[in-house]
Amino acid sequence: MDLIFATNNINKINEIRQIIPAGFNLITLHEAGIKIDIPEPHDSLRENASEKSQTIYKLTGKSCFSEDTGLEVDALDGAPGVRSARFAKADEGYSGNNDKLLKLLGHNPNRHARFRTVISLILEGEEYFFEGKCEGTILMRPKGSNGFGYDPVFVPDGGEKSFGEMSMEEKKTFSHRRKAMDLLIAFLHKRS
Ligand code: IMP
Repeated sequence: MDLIFATNNINKINEIRQIIPAGFNLITLHEAGIKIDIPEPHDSLRENASEKSQTIYKLTGKSCFSEDTGLEVDALDGAPGVRSARFAKADEGYSGNNDKLLKLLGHNPNRHARFRTVISLILEGEEYFFEGKCEGTILMRPKGSNGFGYDPVFVPDGGEKSFGEMSMEEKKTFSHRRKAMDLLIAFLHKRS
């Protein structure tokens, strides 16, 4: 089965390629010849995920999915949440986001947080949603250089290392993205 993954984020593509089983042919936007920056203008992960998959469905008419992910920090009332990608200034990148997060948290002992992923799947014109989350803790300083985004500052519950210190295979055992993908894959298996 062919499925277009509506993202330009190479880190997400690499993770999803590790997760998706044989029998599914993941097609990236690059492979589909689509060059657009899909906007994320909404206040919820669900609406942003939907915007991305709907945009690609309208362009191609083919089954596709997208995901939107946020890091929700309890002591910051759920921030950065849906604004995780643009928490610091645009040109400050992932390390700017991490620096801002650690600065805002300071020495606050409440470091509980979660990653939440919402997937929007459009199959034969119908839209379906799947959600996965991973609870964990924000470190006092970044550790490790694997992964992307907030991985170096996040230790999942039940783990001893940050996502930034884990291989992609290790991260997969805890990952919010994998949990949401498991639901999507189970759904597709049930329909076939
Ligand atoms: P988006 O889903 O592309 O809007 O991602 C929002 C931001 O969340 C990204 O730019 C990353 O900074 C961060 N992010 C998303 N997924 C992960 C993850 O699995 N680990 C660490 N950071 C992530």
